[in-house]
Amino acid sequence: MVTLRGREIVLGVTGSIAAYKAAYLLRELVRLGAEVSVVMTEHAQRFVGPLTFRTLSRRPVLTDLFDPGEAAAVEHVALAERAHLIVVAPATAHTLAKAALGLADDFLTTLLLATRAPLLFVPAMDAGMWRHPTVEGHVAALRARGAVVLEPAEGELASGLIGPGRLPEVSEVVEAILGLLAPKRDLSGERILITAGPTREPVDPVRYLSNRSSGKMGYALAAAALRRGAEVTLVSGPTNLAPPPRARVIPVETTEEMREAVLAHLDAATVVIKAAAVADYRPVRPPARKIPGRQEGLAIPLTPTPDILREVGARKGGRFVVGFAAETEGVAASARAKLEAKGADLMVANDVSRPGVGFESDDNEVILLDRWGGVLQLPRMSKLEVADAIFDRILALRSQTPSGVTP
Ligand code: PMT
Repeated sequence: MVTLRGREIVLGVTGSIAAYKAAYLLRELVRLGAEVSVVMTEHAQRFVGPLTFRTLSRRPVLTDLFDPGEAAAVEHVALAERAHLIVVAPATAHTLAKAALGLADDFLTTLLLATRAPLLFVPAMDAGMWRHPTVEGHVAALRARGAVVLEPAEGELASGLIGPGRLPEVSEVVEAILGLLAPKRDLSGERILITAGPTREPVDPVRYLSNRSSGKMGYALAAAALRRGAEVTLVSGPTNLAPPPRARVIPVETTEEMREAVLAHLDAATVVIKAAAVADYRPVRPPARKIPGRQEGLAIPLTPTPDILREVGARKGGRFVVGFAAETEGVAASARAKLEAKGADLMVANDVSRPGVGFESDDNEVILLDRWGGVLQLPRMSKLEVADAIFDRILALRSQTPSGVTP
């Protein structure tokens, strides 16, 4: 199970509108068992009060290099030695510049100079600033010294402009932290083919049939597999997510495109995981022109899409095949029926009628059913933790079968 227990992390919060998102990051790190000390710059405190971080971390927040009430002047040295990792999130252009140049005029930048712990910067700023040659130079200098600087996410920015500059999703930051602190390489040598997100079936040139899948579950699997040393091919339906760095991503739209991409990469795979929510039906013959609106009783004939998992199950060879079952009732029984019908080795069943888990959410609660009769009910946890639990289960099941792979 993924954990940061016993890990001492410093979270540096700097003056960006994204400072409030650092509270969500802190909550997640504490939930994973990390001991987190928060350091805030003066400008960060204009956006969010230290009380929020003190409450979530259950520790005093360090704000002033010279305040003996909060921490002695040498605390930055003690913390610099104790820390296993320093994360600056959000990292403004100003803080990146000070860190790159070695300026030390407050608690955070002094700490950054004093420590030998790994550094992770999570930038958030306006797109124009992020693309400015000065900022690019500072980022390059930090990376050249071994610091990890994440790419900001694309999207609407506080300025109203659209472009790169948003703080990446908390799950992406946590994944980067886990990669730096808990590198378990037990999937090295594996080539894992993962499907994620929805498929879309055109109704006419402007409309489509689809579902609520965000891709979070499949992307979490890809991120966990990469962290644990696997090579990952991610066949993804349309999502708003940034693909994990180092994954080979094959974007698709329709079920047929997903099928072709999966079959084209099947031979190379040692494990196949079908987390995608595939559209079960498609319109029979979508017209080339837009269907006019307001037609009473309009009927659109549908036909089933190809069942990709069933096809993979039939051509399984020595690879381990995992399906997901999205259920709303009789979860375990329906998932077991799908496991058998589709020839999978493991079925991950989730109840998608429950709030807070399943489609779109950051968490999931699943039952793992395997073809040897095993049933493992997992508690609600983040999709990243579910992903790790699935890989733990795959490895355990493979080690129990005589040949090490599925017979
Ligand atoms: O993407 P998120 O927002 O994070 O949500 C995650 C999820 C709910 C989509 C995910 O956890 C999940 O349950 N994925 C499978 C959804 C689904 O299509 O379930 P199903 O019971 O309809 O299909 C069973 C299996 O057959 C699935 O592995 C599916 O990929 C596969 N299938 C289904 C139909 C089809 N034509 N081809 C297939 O390969």
